[in-house]
Amino acid sequence: MSIYERFKSKGPSGFGYGSTAEEVTGGLSLEGKTMLVTGCNSGLGKETLRVLALRGARVIGTARTFEKAHQACATVGGQTVALACDLSDPASVRACTASVVAVGIQLDAIICNAGIMGLPKLERAHGYELQFFTNHIGHFILVNGLLEQLSATGRVVMLSSAAHIQAAKGGIEFDNLDGSKGYGAWRQYGQSKFANILFAKELARRFTGTQRTANAVHPGIIKTNLARHNLGARIFYDIIGPILLKTVPQGAATQVYVATSPALVTVSGKYFADCNIAAPRADAEDPVTANTLWKISEQIAGTV
Ligand SMILES: NC(=O)c1ccc[n+]([C@@H]2O[C@H](COP(=O)([O-])OP(=O)(O)OC[C@H]3O[C@@H](n4cnc5c(N)ncnc54)[C@H](OP(=O)(O)O)[C@@H]3O)[C@@H](O)[C@H]2O)c1
Repeated sequence: MSIYERFKSKGPSGFGYGSTAEEVTGGLSLEGKTMLVTGCNSGLGKETLRVLALRGARVIGTARTFEKAHQACATVGGQTVALACDLSDPASVRACTASVVAVGIQLDAIICNAGIMGLPKLERAHGYELQFFTNHIGHFILVNGLLEQLSATGRVVMLSSAAHIQAAKGGIEFDNLDGSKGYGAWRQYGQSKFANILFAKELARRFTGTQRTANAVHPGIIKTNLARHNLGARIFYDIIGPILLKTVPQGAATQVYVATSPALVTVSGKYFADCNIAAPRADAEDPVTANTLWKISEQIAGTV
């Protein structure tokens, strides 16, 4: 237990900072439900895969390669299906969505969990800054490719981060999506996580009048493989570990809660932290920016 956890009480949902994915699904049967989670081979995605399967869901676990997804699925019990989905490679994402569409599976939740963080130097995919492309555009193509498969009450859960506050003013540098006008490891990671919030917001708006929902979550701060690209982040995690860090089961709780809780049937367009509704940076709620990002993402998706 971290020191911080001792001072944190539960929120209105009855869950909080210290809740685990198993606790937030206690007593819940997910028999008959199918849920897809990206980045299922590591950290929060792997725990999400495990707990959803434990509760009886059929879980489609995706990873950069089929081997990684297959290995992860083999380590958890229950019903799992492994698929390759490299989010920085639109062809791989489209092959993944085509596989789901081909078998006509109805999805009760899509959990966009995979992500990269804090790349020290500017890297690009298809001409776009790699964190923006992987964390946002890859998931944009995935979710849009699966919308026909999303059940009438289906949920989309976007893994954002409190680090979205590090994005530049306004959130998205629309004139710098390739990073050529300046790059900061944390500014661009923040931008990608800001985009995850805006995407959930705009998707929720598009779901208006249906029973489908879209929400974004901050999972907490958890020592996983996420810091592997950034020495500063690894040192930060080691220093703050005993004070602030959640465990992986605690870190997976918010996304699992938002994907499954019967209490959230009509809750959409929100940002969650510690299994409760929270407030993101004010400009991350801007519907105009959310709509602009959607249109630009459509254009990008149409050219890659
Ligand atoms: N841990 C934290 O403190 C924290 C805080 C806030 C938000 N988050 C968010 O939580 C999510 C899960 O992170 P985590 O902490 O569990 O990190 P993690 O252990 O590094 O897991 C990230 C997952 O994303 C996958 N991934 C990376 N690039 C990919 C790509 N191009 N295509 C497909 N999959 C890719 C990774 O695959 P490989 O193993 O093949 O690289 C891995 O499965 C991320 O979206 C992250 O931004 C985490």
